[in-house]
Amino acid sequence: MLRVGMLTSGGDCQALNAAMRGVAKGLSTNVEDLEIFGFLNGYKGLIYGDYKLLSSSDFSGILTKGGTMIGSSRQPFKLMRVPDENGLDKVEAMKQNYYKLNLDCLVILGGNGTQKTANLLREEGLNVIHLPKTIDNDIYGTDVTFGFQSAINIATDAIDCIHTTAASHNRVFIVEVMGHKVGWLTLYAGLAGGADIILLPEIPYDINKVVQSIEKRSKAGKGFTILAVAEGAISKEDAQLSKKEYKKKLEKSKKNYPSVSYEIAQRIQEKLGTEVRVTVPGHTQRGGSPSPYDRVLCTRLGAEGAKAILEKDYGKMIAMVNDDIKRVPLENVAGKLKTVDPNGQTVREAKFIGISFGD
Ligand code: F6P
Repeated sequence: MLRVGMLTSGGDCQALNAAMRGVAKGLSTNVEDLEIFGFLNGYKGLIYGDYKLLSSSDFSGILTKGGTMIGSSRQPFKLMRVPDENGLDKVEAMKQNYYKLNLDCLVILGGNGTQKTANLLREEGLNVIHLPKTIDNDIYGTDVTFGFQSAINIATDAIDCIHTTAASHNRVFIVEVMGHKVGWLTLYAGLAGGADIILLPEIPYDINKVVQSIEKRSKAGKGFTILAVAEGAISKEDAQLSKKEYKKKLEKSKKNYPSVSYEIAQRIQEKLGTEVRVTVPGHTQRGGSPSPYDRVLCTRLGAEGAKAILEKDYGKMIAMVNDDIKRVPLENVAGKLKTVDPNGQTVREAKFIGISFGD
């Protein structure tokens, strides 16, 4: 009998169900005696022993369904070693529930924080397999994470829709794109949507350069400008601040601006006297059906995850490396962030065709 636990942790994305399906089908096609337990709402389910036994029918018809059928929640890694409000040792509780169910391994789907806890559980002696999920695409050691391509489609749609209305008005438009501390989603959606200015956390912007780019466009007879702004975009002045000082500054500016784009909009408005409109697609970027790319990616990652389990090759992230699906040791990647290279090819090509990064 093979007994496998599964959990999805952190912010959701479109292809979590598709990835779980890939693993489950890979296992059930090749093993007769199989039990899969779904821990509910991320690590919470593993900590508090909240789970359900999943049958093969649970994994049918979910390839195209967004969200996660077993729920998710954020359980910050830095609090994992901190007892809960009732003094419960969370790590010990997770181990106990794993042993109580006599599991052979845990399949953990999630982003950076989730991966760090997966690695912690590995260090504690549990067998784990990690599948890299996040629309942010910031997991080190894999070329791409699932959810990213689906989110690009949605953020691109948002920019496309702004394009048609922008063309009717002489205005500056900002579309704020998710991505947490990295700019992958903004870079790709910005390029796909034909944004004129792209602001990323990795390339601190100078507001005067941003304004110059807008002015240059209007002098060339272009009535509108579209900015794709990452939610983590940062100005050159703010990039000089220490982490603590910047956090304080953000807290203060939250009183006046719901997010960075509104502050940028106001600064442009003040300098140019032009109307600036902000659109924030927000969580729509994590919603809806997975794109065909993500469905294929998750099927491949899931199949390889199942193979790794059958070979008892644990402690691995199943990753895409140079178009091949590979098993990457968790200890080599946990805690590392994959950021956009400001001098990388994609940024250089974008600059070459006249897109401004405000630097
Ligand atoms: O990590 C995925 C993500 O959508 C980020 O892009 C974003 O910063 C964050 O999650 C939003 O988190 P929440 O859903 O908790 O508001």
